[in-house]
Amino acid sequence: MECFSRSPDQTRRLGVRLGALMKPGDLVCLEGELGAGKTTFVQGVASGWGSLDSVTSPTFVLVNEYQRPDSACIFHLDAYRIESAPEAELLDLDAMLTHGALVVEWPERIRSVLPRAHLWVNLQFVEEDHRDLCFSASGDRAESLLASFRQSVFGVT
Ligand SMILES: Nc1ncnc2c1ncn2[C@@H]1O[C@H](COP(=O)(O)OP(=O)(O)O)[C@@H](O)[C@H]1O
Ligand SMILES: [Mg+2]
Repeated sequence: MECFSRSPDQTRRLGVRLGALMKPGDLVCLEGELGAGKTTFVQGVASGWGSLDSVTSPTFVLVNEYQRPDSACIFHLDAYRIESAPEAELLDLDAMLTHGALVVEWPERIRSVLPRAHLWVNLQFVEEDHRDLCFSASGDRAESLLASFRQSVFGVT
C-alpha cells in the first residue's frame, strides 16, 4: 500500500491512524534516509496509541518508551548506531514485544535479529515537504493490521 504525504502533519496523522490500531506484540519497521520522516511518523504512532509522552529521536539512548494511561507501552528503537550483528543480538526485541508494541528506525541495521512478522514502512524523500510511504506486511497479524490501516486511511478494504 502506498501513501503520499505533503507535510509533516500529514505524516503524523498517518502515524496516528496506525498507532490507534496497534496492539502489544506488533512490530513496525521504518526504513528511510535521514530526514525521510521516520521520527515524525512515530510521533503520530505514539499519540494514536494513546500515549501523552513526547516523542524524541532516541539516537543517543537507543530505546525510548512511551506509556499509555493503562500502562501498555510502545518501545521506540533507533538502530542507527548499531554496527554489527553481535551488537544487534544484545537487544532483547522479544522482551519488548511481550511487554508492548515496538517501532524501529533503521531496521535494516538489525535485520539479523528482526522477527519475520512485521509491518514494514519505506519512507522516501520526494521533494521539500513531499514524502512517499510504502507499507508492506509480513505475517497474518501484520496483514490484518495493514488491512485495517488501509480502511482507516482510504475508507475501503
Ligand atoms: N511530508 C513530510 N513528512 C515528514 N517530515 C517532513 C515532511 N515534509 C517535511 N518534513 C521534515 O523532514 C524532517 C523529517 O525529520 P525526521 O522525522 O526526524 O526524519 P527521520 O527520523 O527519518 O530522520 C522534519 O524536519 C520534517 O519537518
Ligand atoms: Mg529519526
